[in-house]
Amino acid sequence: MGFEKRTIKIIVCVAVLLLVIGAIIGLVLGLVLPYRYVELEVWPRSDEYNREQPLIQFRVNDPGSWHPWYNRINDFLRAYETNVPEEPPRAPCSTLRHDQRVPSPNCERALTVWAPCIADNFYGYRDGTPCVFLRLSHIHYWVPEPYNVSLPLALPPDMPNNIKQMMMQRPAHVYGDYVWVSCGGEFSSDQENVGPLQYIPAGLPPGFPTARLHTADRIPRAARSQPDPLPGPLIALLFENPRRGVLINVECRIWTRDILYDRSSRVGRARFEIYVE
Ligand SMILES: *[C@@H]1O[C@H](CO)[C@@H](O)[C@H](O)[C@H]1NC(C)=O
Repeated sequence: MGFEKRTIKIIVCVAVLLLVIGAIIGLVLGLVLPYRYVELEVWPRSDEYNREQPLIQFRVNDPGSWHPWYNRINDFLRAYETNVPEEPPRAPCSTLRHDQRVPSPNCERALTVWAPCIADNFYGYRDGTPCVFLRLSHIHYWVPEPYNVSLPLALPPDMPNNIKQMMMQRPAHVYGDYVWVSCGGEFSSDQENVGPLQYIPAGLPPGFPTARLHTADRIPRAARSQPDPLPGPLIALLFENPRRGVLINVECRIWTRDILYDRSSRVGRARFEIYVE
């Protein structure tokens, strides 16, 4: 009798212990996994890239200072080189300049879509009008809820007008959904210094087409832990006339119904600094 009681006690103890261990593992995983937050990447990055203060600095009249940025963009864009670009092209299809490349008609056409953010112009760095490329990452576990006017849901009052207009012009049920992007000076002095901004490709919506994003709803479950076969689509931000000789803080964010804007958060939000001398 006593022996049986002890066995039951031991079994209960082991069961409780296993439950506790399971709960702890679950808790740790639960804390670690969501940390792979949806990231808005900013390129180019310097060799001493610092997540807290990504700085893009160069002197216009000093090729030795801007040429490394040109090379860094080329290194980044090399993964996108192709003679059969999609329609519309997800990125500049060549990192070679006109006199260096063997022209393929498809890629030439795609490059005109990405102009002026192409190698022929040194991505604007030579002229003090730099292009910065944006890309979404860590999206394999994310199901975005896009903003569109195909459903009668309210839009946030602070949404930039260019996004709202694009939404009306290209309704989602015809043209597909986008994870919208906007950028601007971070503080009021930056808003003055940053000058006019353009999203490139120019005539296209400022955002990432959801059809091209490898989000959780669009890839098989088994592919979630795998790297993407194709690198994600890009948006370039063109600084048309940034003030020279001052540090400019730039903030970019994505717009979806499920990611709420928070100044202190890195989820779907990026900031960087440019300094054009
Ligand atoms: C529009 O937005 C809603 C809400 O985010 C989403 O469920 C829907 O799939 C979107 N697209 C269309 C074509 O309605």
